[in-house]
Amino acid sequence: MRCSVKKSEFLYGKIKVPPDKSISHRAAILSAISEGKCIIRGYSQSSDCASTLECIQKLGVPVSKKGESLVIEGVGRKGFNAEGITLNAGNSATTMRLLSGVVASMEGAEITITGDESLLRRPMMRIIKPLSMMGARIVPSDESGHPPLVVRGANLKGIDYTLPVASAQVKSAILVAGLRAEGKTTVREKVKTRDHTERMLRYMGAKISEDRNVVTVEPSTLRSVEIDVPGDFSSAAYLISAALITPGSSIEISDVGLNPTRTGFLRLAQKMGARFWINLSDSENFEPRGSIKSEYSKLRAVEIRPEDVARAIDEIPLIALLASQAAGVTTIRGAGELRYKESDRISGTVEGLRRMGADIVETDDGMVIRGPSQLKGCEVFPQKDHRLAMMFAVAALIAEGSTLINDWEWTRVSFPGFESAISALGAVVNII
Ligand code: S3P
Repeated sequence: MRCSVKKSEFLYGKIKVPPDKSISHRAAILSAISEGKCIIRGYSQSSDCASTLECIQKLGVPVSKKGESLVIEGVGRKGFNAEGITLNAGNSATTMRLLSGVVASMEGAEITITGDESLLRRPMMRIIKPLSMMGARIVPSDESGHPPLVVRGANLKGIDYTLPVASAQVKSAILVAGLRAEGKTTVREKVKTRDHTERMLRYMGAKISEDRNVVTVEPSTLRSVEIDVPGDFSSAAYLISAALITPGSSIEISDVGLNPTRTGFLRLAQKMGARFWINLSDSENFEPRGSIKSEYSKLRAVEIRPEDVARAIDEIPLIALLASQAAGVTTIRGAGELRYKESDRISGTVEGLRRMGADIVETDDGMVIRGPSQLKGCEVFPQKDHRLAMMFAVAALIAEGSTLINDWEWTRVSFPGFESAISALGAVVNII
């Protein structure tokens, strides 16, 4: 599927974004191991979160719908009924990494977990190593640790582990395994990554303590809860960026997650001169949420340092786009992790934005962008990566003529209906 987007005059309006993908994955997985019935309101309809639901159902967890909510009946202490099952995590590394952590801690369970072509290229040694230190038995398909993974559950022992790469998925895989391990499990981070797992574990009654970048869990059972999923900040970032770069625009996004470990993009955009206003809501239900209004802004270049990256990891391609419209030279350093996402997002961003007329070069662990440049419409190739496809669609709003974006169907991985969202705000979009 392809999407053509025309240069836009201005975007205007108030809109909601789909529910948060990261929080939805955790809500489904932690509910699946809770003691009782959990209700999730606003579970993400993304294909990634559908993969998580399919996997937990295959593991014997009853999932049903009640109106707009999901009801998940946790298996609790007895664990999953899982021997010789193959799970398919699709495009979702969060599904694969977190579920591997859970299954690894269940003595008697044995699963194979696989995924699509992109997921089979993603690095898994980062979870295999700490989970094996805890006593898990996980066999990857090759020496570099690629999936499919065969995970055999065992009685685990807690560890004290410092993450060598900043990754909330790895941290979460270790913490969920720690819920059934003997003794304490501690994860230390050099840079704090998104803390959705920690917040949800605490909300569900787990024994968890945190001291800045160090988090410890002890063996715990999780109580049944009701979870309200806020809008996805990473999805909102596309619409915020659209307002910032399209002259005359003003967009308000309501009920979006504003967890500070996720909103690094806002701090970086603010340094670039972005104009936005946040209204925090009172009813936060363990995750801060609120509305953000953003307007067209004159942007200036910024220096993105390695320590800025973790909290804006999924938004770095958007920062590159903003930088192409900002006065001066923007450098992005310490973003090498982007090469291990659904695609190599450093080369994909640079290749596509350069095609559109940006002055951008690739470095080993980042990019250098000189702005401002007038972008021009052309054909772009997002490498089956949802985040690149949507970033190019935002770039297309200010590119002369029209832009043809390939692989459009992949936007369903995180933001089903992205084309309707931007067209409701005034963009001229055609699906071909
Ligand atoms: C995610 C964490 C990040 C992010 C991904 C979702 C999560 O990955 O890029 O889109 O839900 O924990 P890493 O933890 O591998 O950096």
